Amino acid sequence: MPDRLKITDERTGLQYEAPIKDETIRAIDLRQIKTGEKDFGLLSYDPAFLNTASCRSAITYIDGDAGILRYRGFAIDELAERCSFLEVAWLLLNGELPTEQELTVWQSQVKRHTMLHETTKKFLEGFRYDAHPMGMLISTVAALSTVYPEARNIFDAKNRHLQIARLVAKMPTICAYCYRHHFGLPYIYPDNELSFTGNFMNMMWKMFEPKYVANPILERALDVLFILHADHEQNCSTNIMRGVGSAQTDPYLCVAAAASALAGALHGGANEEVLRMLEEIGTKDRIPSYIEAVKSGKYKLMGFGHRVYKNYDPRARIIKRTADQVFTVTGENHKIEIARELERIALEDDYFVQRKLYPNVDFYSGIIYEAMGFRPDLFTVLFAIPRVVGWLAQWEEMLLDPEQKIARPRQVYTGYGLRDIVPMHRRGKDADSPGQRDPQVAV
Ligand code: ACO
Repeated sequence: MPDRLKITDERTGLQYEAPIKDETIRAIDLRQIKTGEKDFGLLSYDPAFLNTASCRSAITYIDGDAGILRYRGFAIDELAERCSFLEVAWLLLNGELPTEQELTVWQSQVKRHTMLHETTKKFLEGFRYDAHPMGMLISTVAALSTVYPEARNIFDAKNRHLQIARLVAKMPTICAYCYRHHFGLPYIYPDNELSFTGNFMNMMWKMFEPKYVANPILERALDVLFILHADHEQNCSTNIMRGVGSAQTDPYLCVAAAASALAGALHGGANEEVLRMLEEIGTKDRIPSYIEAVKSGKYKLMGFGHRVYKNYDPRARIIKRTADQVFTVTGENHKIEIARELERIALEDDYFVQRKLYPNVDFYSGIIYEAMGFRPDLFTVLFAIPRVVGWLAQWEEMLLDPEQKIARPRQVYTGYGLRDIVPMHRRGKDADSPGQRDPQVAV
Protein backbone atom coordinates (compact mmCIF):
# COMPACT_ATOMS: atom_id res chain seq x y z
CA MET A 1 0.00 0.00 0.00
CA PRO A 2 1.57 3.34 -1.01
CA ASP A 3 2.19 5.58 2.00
CA ARG A 4 0.97 8.78 0.45
CA LEU A 5 -2.16 10.84 0.19
CA LYS A 6 -3.42 11.98 -3.21
CA ILE A 7 -5.29 15.26 -3.18
CA THR A 8 -7.24 16.76 -6.06
CA ASP A 9 -7.88 20.50 -5.82
CA GLU A 10 -11.26 20.91 -7.49
CA ARG A 11 -10.65 24.65 -7.84
CA THR A 12 -7.86 24.02 -10.34
CA GLY A 13 -8.19 20.33 -11.20
CA LEU A 14 -4.54 19.88 -10.13
CA GLN A 15 -3.37 16.82 -8.22
CA TYR A 16 -0.90 16.73 -5.33
CA GLU A 17 0.73 14.12 -3.18
CA ALA A 18 1.58 14.19 0.50
CA PRO A 19 3.65 11.41 2.11
CA ILE A 20 2.07 9.66 5.08
CA LYS A 21 4.37 8.77 7.97
CA ASP A 22 3.18 7.52 11.36
CA GLU A 23 -0.45 7.97 10.23
CA THR A 24 0.28 11.66 9.73
CA ILE A 25 0.70 14.06 6.86
CA ARG A 26 2.82 17.15 7.27
CA ALA A 27 0.68 20.27 7.29
CA ILE A 28 3.42 22.06 5.36
CA ASP A 29 2.77 19.69 2.43
CA LEU A 30 -0.57 21.43 1.98
CA ARG A 31 1.26 24.66 1.18
CA GLN A 32 2.02 23.44 -2.36
CA ILE A 33 -1.72 23.54 -3.10
CA LYS A 34 -2.27 26.91 -4.74
CA THR A 35 -4.72 28.51 -7.14
CA GLY A 36 -2.04 30.70 -8.71
CA GLU A 37 1.41 32.26 -8.35
CA LYS A 38 0.30 34.81 -5.75
CA ASP A 39 -1.66 32.35 -3.63
CA PHE A 40 0.07 31.66 -0.27
CA GLY A 41 -0.97 28.02 -0.37
CA LEU A 42 -3.44 25.97 1.63
CA LEU A 43 -3.38 26.04 5.44
CA SER A 44 -5.02 23.59 7.81
CA TYR A 45 -7.40 25.18 10.33
CA ASP A 46 -7.51 23.43 13.69
CA PRO A 47 -8.76 25.52 16.63
CA ALA A 48 -7.89 23.86 19.95
CA PHE A 49 -5.60 21.38 18.11
CA LEU A 50 -8.24 18.68 17.82
CA ASN A 51 -6.38 16.90 15.05
CA THR A 52 -2.88 18.34 15.00
CA ALA A 53 0.29 16.66 16.25
CA SER A 54 2.67 19.44 17.31
CA CYS A 55 5.68 17.25 17.98
CA ARG A 56 7.19 13.78 17.87
CA SER A 57 7.56 12.49 21.40
CA ALA A 58 8.90 9.31 23.00
CA ILE A 59 7.75 10.10 26.53
CA THR A 60 4.08 9.24 27.10
CA TYR A 61 1.70 7.07 25.12
CA ILE A 62 -2.06 7.36 25.40
CA ASP A 63 -4.69 5.35 23.59
CA GLY A 64 -7.80 7.26 24.60
CA ASP A 65 -10.26 4.79 23.12
CA ALA A 66 -8.70 1.82 24.88
CA GLY A 67 -8.02 3.74 28.12
CA ILE A 68 -4.24 3.10 27.97
CA LEU A 69 -1.55 5.30 29.52
CA ARG A 70 2.15 4.44 29.45
CA TYR A 71 5.28 6.34 30.47
CA ARG A 72 8.27 5.43 28.30
CA GLY A 73 6.52 2.14 27.42
CA PHE A 74 5.61 1.11 30.97
CA ALA A 75 1.93 0.69 31.90
CA ILE A 76 0.76 3.28 34.41
CA ASP A 77 -0.78 0.61 36.68
CA GLU A 78 2.51 -1.20 36.98
CA LEU A 79 4.45 1.98 37.67
CA ALA A 80 1.92 2.98 40.33
CA GLU A 81 2.12 -0.47 41.86
CA ARG A 82 5.87 -1.05 41.85
CA CYS A 83 7.76 2.24 41.69
CA SER A 84 8.31 5.36 43.77
CA PHE A 85 7.56 8.81 42.41
CA LEU A 86 11.24 9.74 42.14
CA GLU A 87 11.92 6.52 40.21
CA VAL A 88 9.15 7.46 37.77
CA ALA A 89 10.45 11.03 37.58
CA TRP A 90 13.87 9.68 36.56
CA LEU A 91 12.21 7.43 34.00
CA LEU A 92 10.30 10.30 32.42
CA LEU A 93 13.34 12.57 32.39
CA ASN A 94 15.90 10.01 31.22
CA GLY A 95 13.99 7.40 29.24
CA GLU A 96 14.88 4.35 31.40
CA LEU A 97 14.14 3.22 34.93
CA PRO A 98 17.10 4.12 37.17
CA THR A 99 19.60 1.56 38.40
CA GLU A 100 19.95 1.37 42.17
CA GLN A 101 22.97 3.66 42.03
CA GLU A 102 21.31 6.16 39.69
CA LEU A 103 18.30 6.31 41.97
CA THR A 104 20.45 6.91 45.05
CA VAL A 105 22.29 9.75 43.32
CA TRP A 106 19.02 11.25 41.97
CA GLN A 107 17.34 11.07 45.39
CA SER A 108 20.25 12.81 47.10
CA GLN A 109 20.42 15.39 44.30
CA VAL A 110 16.74 16.22 44.79
CA LYS A 111 17.19 16.35 48.58
CA ARG A 112 20.10 18.75 48.19
CA HIS A 113 17.87 21.26 46.40
CA THR A 114 14.71 21.25 48.51
CA MET A 115 15.58 24.48 50.38
CA LEU A 116 14.38 27.87 49.19
CA HIS A 117 16.68 30.88 49.24
CA GLU A 118 15.74 33.00 52.28
CA THR A 119 14.87 35.91 49.98
CA THR A 120 12.38 33.65 48.18
CA LYS A 121 10.86 32.83 51.56
CA LYS A 122 10.49 36.57 52.18
CA PHE A 123 8.93 36.93 48.74
CA LEU A 124 6.30 34.36 49.75
CA GLU A 125 5.69 36.24 53.00
CA GLY A 126 4.61 39.26 50.94
CA PHE A 127 1.39 37.61 49.78
CA ARG A 128 -1.90 38.34 51.51
CA TYR A 129 -2.95 35.61 53.95
CA ASP A 130 -5.84 34.62 51.62
CA ALA A 131 -3.85 34.57 48.34
CA HIS A 132 -4.74 31.57 46.17
CA PRO A 133 -1.86 29.07 46.40
CA MET A 134 -1.73 28.65 42.60
CA GLY A 135 -1.09 32.40 42.18
CA MET A 136 1.60 32.13 44.87
CA LEU A 137 3.18 29.07 43.26
CA ILE A 138 3.21 30.55 39.77
CA SER A 139 4.72 33.86 40.93
CA THR A 140 7.30 32.16 43.16
CA VAL A 141 8.46 29.78 40.44
CA ALA A 142 8.77 32.75 38.07
CA ALA A 143 10.73 34.60 40.77
CA LEU A 144 13.21 31.69 40.97
CA SER A 145 14.30 32.73 37.50
CA THR A 146 15.90 35.78 39.15
CA VAL A 147 17.59 33.62 41.81
CA TYR A 148 19.15 31.33 39.18
CA PRO A 149 19.95 33.58 36.21
CA GLU A 150 22.29 30.94 34.77
CA ALA A 151 19.16 28.86 34.06
CA ARG A 152 18.77 30.69 30.76
CA ASN A 153 21.82 28.79 29.52
CA ILE A 154 19.47 26.11 28.27
CA PHE A 155 21.75 24.42 25.75
CA ASP A 156 24.26 23.38 28.42
CA ALA A 157 23.10 19.88 29.43
CA LYS A 158 24.76 19.96 32.88
CA ASN A 159 23.18 23.30 33.71
CA ARG A 160 19.81 22.12 32.41
CA HIS A 161 19.90 19.06 34.65
CA LEU A 162 20.78 21.18 37.68
CA GLN A 163 17.73 23.40 37.07
CA ILE A 164 15.54 20.32 36.56
CA ALA A 165 16.65 18.88 39.95
CA ARG A 166 16.05 22.28 41.58
CA LEU A 167 12.56 22.58 40.16
CA VAL A 168 11.51 19.02 41.08
CA ALA A 169 12.92 19.53 44.59
CA LYS A 170 11.50 22.97 45.32
CA MET A 171 7.90 22.49 44.20
CA PRO A 172 6.83 20.68 47.42
CA THR A 173 8.64 23.26 49.55
CA ILE A 174 6.83 26.14 47.82
CA CYS A 175 3.50 24.33 48.14
CA ALA A 176 4.01 23.72 51.88
CA TYR A 177 5.07 27.32 52.45
CA CYS A 178 1.92 28.55 50.64
CA TYR A 179 -0.20 26.43 52.96
CA ARG A 180 1.52 27.52 56.17
CA HIS A 181 1.48 31.15 55.09
CA HIS A 182 -2.31 31.07 54.97
CA PHE A 183 -2.53 30.00 58.62
CA GLY A 184 0.38 32.11 59.83
CA LEU A 185 2.22 28.92 60.82
CA PRO A 186 6.02 28.93 60.97
CA TYR A 187 7.65 27.48 57.85
CA ILE A 188 9.17 24.05 58.33
CA TYR A 189 12.52 23.43 56.72
CA PRO A 190 12.98 20.23 54.69
CA ASP A 191 14.04 17.09 56.55
CA ASN A 192 16.37 15.18 54.29
CA GLU A 193 16.06 11.96 56.22
CA LEU A 194 12.52 11.59 54.86
CA SER A 195 11.30 10.40 51.48
CA PHE A 196 10.28 12.96 48.83
CA THR A 197 6.62 12.57 49.79
CA GLY A 198 7.26 12.10 53.52
CA ASN A 199 9.29 15.29 53.57
CA PHE A 200 6.49 17.16 51.80
CA MET A 201 4.01 15.94 54.43
CA ASN A 202 6.48 17.01 57.12
CA MET A 203 6.74 20.54 55.69
CA MET A 204 2.94 20.70 55.49
CA TRP A 205 1.87 19.32 58.83
CA LYS A 206 4.69 19.22 61.39
CA MET A 207 3.64 21.00 64.56
CA PHE A 208 5.31 20.45 67.96
CA GLU A 209 6.59 16.90 67.56
CA PRO A 210 10.40 16.67 67.47
CA LYS A 211 10.27 14.44 64.38
CA TYR A 212 7.34 14.20 61.97
CA VAL A 213 6.47 10.66 60.93
CA ALA A 214 3.96 10.33 58.08
CA ASN A 215 1.38 7.57 58.11
CA PRO A 216 2.91 5.06 55.64
CA ILE A 217 -0.44 4.36 53.90
CA LEU A 218 -1.05 8.07 53.32
CA GLU A 219 2.59 8.63 52.30
CA ARG A 220 2.38 5.85 49.71
CA ALA A 221 -1.05 7.06 48.50
CA LEU A 222 0.35 10.53 47.87
CA ASP A 223 3.37 9.04 46.08
CA VAL A 224 0.98 7.06 43.84
CA LEU A 225 -1.05 10.19 43.11
CA PHE A 226 2.18 11.96 42.17
CA ILE A 227 3.07 9.10 39.79
CA LEU A 228 -0.35 9.30 38.12
CA HIS A 229 -0.05 13.04 37.57
CA ALA A 230 3.57 13.14 36.40
CA ASP A 231 2.91 13.43 32.66
CA HIS A 232 0.09 13.27 30.18
CA GLU A 233 1.60 13.98 26.76
CA GLN A 234 0.44 17.09 24.92
CA ASN A 235 -2.17 18.43 27.34
CA CYS A 236 -2.92 22.13 27.64
CA SER A 237 -0.16 23.04 30.15
CA THR A 238 2.48 20.87 28.44
CA ASN A 239 1.68 22.52 25.16
CA ILE A 240 2.28 25.88 26.88
CA MET A 241 5.54 24.57 28.37
CA ARG A 242 6.76 23.60 24.92
CA GLY A 243 5.41 26.79 23.33
CA VAL A 244 7.08 29.15 25.80
CA GLY A 245 10.21 26.97 25.86
CA SER A 246 10.44 27.19 22.08
CA ALA A 247 11.28 30.89 22.52
CA GLN A 248 14.34 29.70 24.53
CA THR A 249 12.90 31.10 27.76
CA ASP A 250 14.46 29.74 30.97
CA PRO A 251 12.78 26.71 32.60
CA TYR A 252 11.48 28.61 35.65
CA LEU A 253 9.51 31.03 33.49
CA CYS A 254 8.35 28.16 31.27
CA VAL A 255 7.09 26.24 34.33
CA ALA A 256 5.34 29.37 35.63
CA ALA A 257 3.54 29.66 32.27
CA ALA A 258 2.62 25.96 32.19
CA ALA A 259 1.35 26.15 35.78
CA SER A 260 -0.83 29.12 34.78
CA ALA A 261 -2.53 26.91 32.21
CA LEU A 262 -2.90 24.16 34.80
CA ALA A 263 -4.68 26.61 37.12
CA GLY A 264 -7.69 26.79 34.78
CA ALA A 265 -10.97 25.11 35.83
CA LEU A 266 -11.04 22.97 32.69
CA HIS A 267 -7.57 21.61 33.36
CA GLY A 268 -5.91 21.09 36.76
CA GLY A 269 -8.46 23.28 38.51
CA ALA A 270 -11.13 20.62 37.93
CA ASN A 271 -10.53 18.61 41.12
CA GLU A 272 -11.18 21.71 43.22
CA GLU A 273 -14.40 22.19 41.22
CA VAL A 274 -15.39 18.55 41.86
CA LEU A 275 -15.33 19.22 45.60
CA ARG A 276 -17.42 22.35 45.18
CA MET A 277 -19.88 20.36 43.06
CA LEU A 278 -20.15 17.57 45.65
CA GLU A 279 -20.66 20.21 48.33
CA GLU A 280 -23.42 21.79 46.28
CA ILE A 281 -25.15 18.45 45.68
CA GLY A 282 -24.96 17.85 49.43
CA THR A 283 -26.99 14.62 49.70
CA LYS A 284 -27.50 11.54 47.53
CA ASP A 285 -31.19 12.23 46.94
CA ARG A 286 -30.28 15.45 45.09
CA ILE A 287 -28.09 13.64 42.53
CA PRO A 288 -30.86 12.92 39.95
CA SER A 289 -31.92 16.59 39.78
CA TYR A 290 -28.25 17.63 39.49
CA ILE A 291 -27.75 15.19 36.61
CA GLU A 292 -30.82 16.64 34.90
CA ALA A 293 -29.36 20.15 35.30
CA VAL A 294 -26.09 18.92 33.74
CA LYS A 295 -27.98 17.39 30.82
CA SER A 296 -29.90 20.59 30.22
CA GLY A 297 -26.57 22.41 29.93
CA LYS A 298 -26.83 24.33 33.21
CA TYR A 299 -23.67 22.77 34.64
CA LYS A 300 -20.82 20.51 33.61
CA LEU A 301 -20.26 17.36 35.59
CA MET A 302 -16.81 18.26 36.87
CA GLY A 303 -14.29 15.42 36.83
CA PHE A 304 -16.08 13.84 33.88
CA GLY A 305 -15.04 13.86 30.25
CA HIS A 306 -11.66 14.16 28.60
CA ARG A 307 -10.34 15.42 25.30
CA VAL A 308 -8.40 12.21 24.71
CA TYR A 309 -10.00 9.46 26.83
CA LYS A 310 -13.25 8.24 25.40
CA ASN A 311 -13.11 5.37 27.87
CA TYR A 312 -12.48 5.13 31.61
CA ASP A 313 -9.37 7.22 32.41
CA PRO A 314 -6.88 4.54 33.63
CA ARG A 315 -5.64 6.94 36.28
CA ALA A 316 -9.16 7.30 37.70
CA ARG A 317 -9.33 3.53 38.20
CA ILE A 318 -6.07 3.50 40.21
CA ILE A 319 -7.16 6.58 42.16
CA LYS A 320 -10.41 4.89 43.12
CA ARG A 321 -8.39 1.99 44.59
CA THR A 322 -6.06 4.42 46.34
CA ALA A 323 -9.10 6.18 47.82
CA ASP A 324 -10.20 2.94 49.46
CA GLN A 325 -6.76 2.58 51.10
CA VAL A 326 -6.78 6.20 52.30
CA PHE A 327 -10.23 5.82 53.82
CA THR A 328 -9.02 2.88 55.94
CA VAL A 329 -6.89 5.48 57.73
CA THR A 330 -9.05 8.60 57.60
CA GLY A 331 -12.53 7.04 57.66
CA GLU A 332 -15.10 7.60 54.89
CA ASN A 333 -16.76 10.95 54.40
CA HIS A 334 -20.11 11.75 52.81
CA LYS A 335 -18.48 13.16 49.65
CA ILE A 336 -17.08 9.80 48.54
CA GLU A 337 -20.53 8.28 48.91
CA ILE A 338 -22.04 11.03 46.75
CA ALA A 339 -19.21 10.68 44.21
CA ARG A 340 -19.66 6.90 43.90
CA GLU A 341 -23.41 7.27 43.45
CA LEU A 342 -22.97 10.13 40.98
CA GLU A 343 -20.58 8.00 38.95
CA ARG A 344 -22.94 5.01 39.03
CA ILE A 345 -25.91 7.06 37.82
CA ALA A 346 -23.93 8.97 35.19
CA LEU A 347 -22.41 5.82 33.71
CA GLU A 348 -25.89 4.39 33.13
CA ASP A 349 -27.31 7.57 31.64
CA ASP A 350 -27.62 7.87 27.85
CA TYR A 351 -26.36 11.46 27.82
CA PHE A 352 -22.98 10.39 29.25
CA VAL A 353 -22.84 7.01 27.49
CA GLN A 354 -23.43 8.52 24.03
CA ARG A 355 -20.83 11.24 24.58
CA LYS A 356 -18.37 8.73 26.06
CA LEU A 357 -18.04 10.76 29.24
CA TYR A 358 -16.25 8.81 31.98
CA PRO A 359 -14.65 9.90 35.26
CA ASN A 360 -11.24 11.47 34.70
CA VAL A 361 -8.25 11.74 37.02
CA ASP A 362 -9.79 14.67 38.85
CA PHE A 363 -13.02 12.99 39.88
CA TYR A 364 -11.64 11.13 42.92
CA SER A 365 -8.28 12.86 43.49
CA GLY A 366 -9.82 15.88 45.25
CA ILE A 367 -11.79 13.65 47.60
CA ILE A 368 -8.61 11.81 48.61
CA TYR A 369 -6.68 15.03 49.05
CA GLU A 370 -9.42 16.46 51.24
CA ALA A 371 -9.57 13.30 53.35
CA MET A 372 -5.80 13.55 53.84
CA GLY A 373 -6.17 17.09 55.14
CA PHE A 374 -5.37 19.23 52.07
CA ARG A 375 -7.56 22.28 51.52
CA PRO A 376 -9.31 22.40 48.11
CA ASP A 377 -7.40 25.48 46.98
CA LEU A 378 -4.17 23.45 47.27
CA PHE A 379 -5.36 20.69 44.94
CA THR A 380 -4.02 22.22 41.75
CA VAL A 381 -0.69 22.88 43.44
CA LEU A 382 -0.63 19.18 44.36
CA PHE A 383 -1.09 18.47 40.67
CA ALA A 384 1.73 20.83 39.71
CA ILE A 385 4.27 19.17 42.07
CA PRO A 386 4.54 15.97 40.01
CA ARG A 387 3.55 17.49 36.66
CA VAL A 388 6.66 19.65 36.72
CA VAL A 389 8.51 16.42 35.88
CA GLY A 390 6.46 15.88 32.73
CA TRP A 391 6.76 19.53 31.75
CA LEU A 392 10.56 19.39 32.10
CA ALA A 393 10.90 16.08 30.25
CA GLN A 394 8.82 17.47 27.39
CA TRP A 395 10.71 20.78 27.47
CA GLU A 396 14.06 19.03 27.17
CA GLU A 397 12.80 16.78 24.40
CA MET A 398 11.59 19.87 22.53
CA LEU A 399 14.93 21.68 22.97
CA LEU A 400 16.88 18.70 21.63
CA ASP A 401 14.55 18.09 18.68
CA PRO A 402 16.25 19.55 15.58
CA GLU A 403 12.85 19.91 13.87
CA GLN A 404 11.47 22.29 16.49
CA LYS A 405 11.52 26.04 16.02
CA ILE A 406 9.81 28.88 17.85
CA ALA A 407 6.13 27.88 18.04
CA ARG A 408 4.15 30.21 15.87
CA PRO A 409 0.77 29.11 14.50
CA ARG A 410 -0.91 30.72 11.53
CA GLN A 411 -4.36 32.30 11.59
CA VAL A 412 -7.28 32.79 9.28
CA TYR A 413 -7.68 36.56 9.32
CA THR A 414 -11.34 37.57 9.53
CA GLY A 415 -11.02 41.32 10.20
CA TYR A 416 -11.26 44.41 7.98
CA GLY A 417 -9.27 45.05 4.87
CA LEU A 418 -7.25 48.28 4.75
CA ARG A 419 -9.13 51.24 6.26
CA ASP A 420 -8.50 54.98 6.61
CA ILE A 421 -8.24 56.54 10.06
CA VAL A 422 -11.34 58.67 10.75
CA PRO A 423 -10.43 62.04 12.40
CA MET A 424 -11.34 62.14 16.12
CA HIS A 425 -14.16 64.73 15.72
CA ARG A 426 -15.98 62.49 13.23
CA ARG A 427 -15.63 59.17 15.04
CA GLY A 428 -18.88 57.59 16.16
CA LYS A 429 -20.91 60.14 14.17
CA ASP A 430 -20.67 59.23 10.51
CA ALA A 431 -21.69 55.95 9.08
CA ASP A 432 -18.15 55.55 7.81
CA SER A 433 -17.43 52.75 5.50
CA PRO A 434 -16.27 49.83 7.66
CA GLY A 435 -13.92 48.84 4.87
CA GLN A 436 -13.99 45.54 3.14
CA ARG A 437 -14.97 42.52 5.18
CA ASP A 438 -13.68 39.70 3.03
CA PRO A 439 -11.63 37.31 5.10
CA GLN A 440 -7.97 37.51 4.18
CA VAL A 441 -5.11 35.31 5.18
CA ALA A 442 -2.33 37.49 6.52
CA VAL A 443 1.02 35.76 6.31
N1 ACO B 1 -20.38 17.37 31.79
C1 ACO B 1 -21.41 17.43 30.92
N2 ACO B 1 -21.27 17.42 29.58
C2 ACO B 1 -20.01 17.33 29.11
C3 ACO B 1 -18.88 17.25 29.96
C4 ACO B 1 -19.10 17.27 31.35
N3 ACO B 1 -18.09 17.19 32.20
N4 ACO B 1 -17.76 17.18 29.21
C5 ACO B 1 -18.17 17.20 27.94
N5 ACO B 1 -19.51 17.29 27.87
C6 ACO B 1 -20.35 17.28 26.67
C7 ACO B 1 -20.23 18.60 25.92
O1 ACO B 1 -21.19 19.53 26.36
C8 ACO B 1 -20.44 18.14 24.50
O2 ACO B 1 -21.80 17.90 24.34
P1 ACO B 1 -22.54 18.25 22.92
O3 ACO B 1 -21.91 17.30 21.94
O4 ACO B 1 -23.98 18.00 23.17
O5 ACO B 1 -22.21 19.68 22.64
C9 ACO B 1 -19.76 16.78 24.45
O6 ACO B 1 -19.81 16.29 25.79
C10 ACO B 1 -18.32 16.83 23.96
O7 ACO B 1 -17.59 17.69 24.83
P2 ACO B 1 -16.47 18.69 24.39
O8 ACO B 1 -16.59 19.95 25.20
O9 ACO B 1 -16.43 18.81 22.90
O10 ACO B 1 -15.18 17.91 24.83
P3 ACO B 1 -13.74 18.51 24.93
O11 ACO B 1 -12.82 17.43 24.52
O12 ACO B 1 -13.61 19.81 24.22
O13 ACO B 1 -13.58 18.82 26.49
C11 ACO B 1 -13.11 18.64 28.77
C12 ACO B 1 -12.88 18.04 27.37
C13 ACO B 1 -12.66 20.11 28.78
C14 ACO B 1 -12.23 17.88 29.77
C15 ACO B 1 -14.60 18.52 29.15
O14 ACO B 1 -15.00 17.16 29.15
C16 ACO B 1 -14.90 19.16 30.49
O15 ACO B 1 -15.11 20.37 30.56
N6 ACO B 1 -14.94 18.36 31.60
C17 ACO B 1 -15.16 18.91 32.91
C18 ACO B 1 -13.90 19.52 33.44
C19 ACO B 1 -12.87 18.50 33.84
O16 ACO B 1 -13.18 17.51 34.52
N7 ACO B 1 -11.61 18.75 33.44
C20 ACO B 1 -10.49 17.89 33.80
C21 ACO B 1 -9.92 17.23 32.57
S1 ACO B 1 -8.61 16.15 33.03
C22 ACO B 1 -7.31 17.16 33.28
O17 ACO B 1 -7.17 18.24 32.79
C23 ACO B 1 -6.32 16.69 34.19
